[in-house]
Amino acid sequence: MIHLLFFPLLAILAIASPLESRAPKYNVTAMNIALNRGSGILGSYSKCSGSLCSWMSKISDDTKLIDISIPGTHDTASWNYTPLKQIEYLKYTNLIYPSSIYKCNKESIFKQLQSGNRAFDLRIGLSPKNSNDLIFFHSEAILDLNSKFEDILFGFWRFLDENPTETLIISIKDENSTFGSYNILQQNIYNTLTTNQAKIYINPTESISSINLSSVRGKMVILRRFNSPNNIGIDLTNNFKDNNEDFQIINSSPDGDDNIFIEDLYEPFTNFGLKSHVNKKLNVTISHILNSSNKKNGEGLYITYASSEVISQLLIPEIMSNGLIIPGVNLGLKNWLINGKGKGLKQKGIIFTDFASDTTGLVEAIIA
Ligand SMILES: *[C@@H]1O[C@H](CO)[C@@H](O)[C@H](O)[C@H]1NC(C)=O
Ligand SMILES: *[C@@H]1O[C@H](CO)[C@@H](O)[C@H](O)[C@H]1NC(C)=O
Ligand SMILES: *[C@@H]1O[C@H](CO)[C@@H](O)[C@H](O)[C@H]1NC(C)=O
Ligand SMILES: *[C@@H]1O[C@H](CO)[C@@H](O)[C@H](O)[C@H]1NC(C)=O
Ligand SMILES: *[C@@H]1O[C@H](CO)[C@@H](O)[C@H](O)[C@H]1NC(C)=O
Repeated sequence: MIHLLFFPLLAILAIASPLESRAPKYNVTAMNIALNRGSGILGSYSKCSGSLCSWMSKISDDTKLIDISIPGTHDTASWNYTPLKQIEYLKYTNLIYPSSIYKCNKESIFKQLQSGNRAFDLRIGLSPKNSNDLIFFHSEAILDLNSKFEDILFGFWRFLDENPTETLIISIKDENSTFGSYNILQQNIYNTLTTNQAKIYINPTESISSINLSSVRGKMVILRRFNSPNNIGIDLTNNFKDNNEDFQIINSSPDGDDNIFIEDLYEPFTNFGLKSHVNKKLNVTISHILNSSNKKNGEGLYITYASSEVISQLLIPEIMSNGLIIPGVNLGLKNWLINGKGKGLKQKGIIFTDFASDTTGLVEAIIA
């Protein structure tokens, strides 16, 4: 009796499902392996839900990528770095700074995407277990021994497959080659970005200025912060100044030239104390965003890092961003964007933050 009742239902489902599902562009087996193995950095997968999953759908196709205001996370992969993980990896790293120095976010990558972030700062190194494996580092800290770089790419591809109006800007830096060599690290990063699977989702353009949104929806663009055996992505390796509040990179490539302006004063050393450092960091961040919004349409890529720390004064990224008794950089930035002179500004460029998820409305204020 039971199967007679269920049979028609199954038959309807069997007919209905091909209409509703379309073949994904990814290898399903490889996807499942990657989401499982990469969960220490990706977080656990859940389909993006909420209004921010497709905010780029409201931007017209002909808009240049460099004219969009794009929120991103600095040191994206560090969100899950805990004292316990640090202890577990001591045999490889020896004694390093407390884990909170290296931690720049709280949300998993899937949550960062859901919160509206579209630019990601990935820092890759070689695994002490097998120097062919690419894993995530922040300076000397190993962030996770299981999750591989390719797993994280699969996570992004899953998001893009399900949210095809969106585009992702992926910054990739060769962070640590201690367990191998820079040659191996750079070659392996390049190889990972150029597999047949990767080519479906990565637009390899070497120049960003001419790219419009329609040509990169459902895809990612690479900001290259590693020397590559063959060119791919926008080259940021020439004259990337360390701890600098306002520098320029001129990228000349076969695909076109880019004028790139960067603020990355990550250690705003001024006087003693949180307040003077927050004020200094906020000043350079806001000044850079103002310059970005004053640029001509279609000219110049602006990248602003709102992230900072001052190790010598125990001002870890979380305290610089969120404050401690007195407000931090993030609240200052949000208030400036919503109620201050930053209100209504367009073309703010790419803005990388730490701990933005602790300041409700900050990511939305960047997008606005
Ligand atoms: C899909 O991925 C699995 C796991 O990596 C692999 O064994 C298989 O060959 C792949 N299939 C195709 C068609 O590439
Ligand atoms: C976007 O750029 C591509 C490649 O240059 C071009 O073919 C296309 O017409 C552009 N689309 C829009 C809507 O401007
Ligand atoms: C890379 O990580 C190792 C292990 O923690 C550390 O000894 C080395 O100093 C790090 N190198 C860089 C460039 O951060
Ligand atoms: C940043 O600080 C300088 C020097 O005090 C000041 O002239 C400038 O107006 C400040 N910029 C902003 C955007 O507040
Ligand atoms: C802003 O632009 C002006 C004029 O080009 C330049 O002198 C200044 O250094 C820029 N400031 C920042 C923070 O980018």
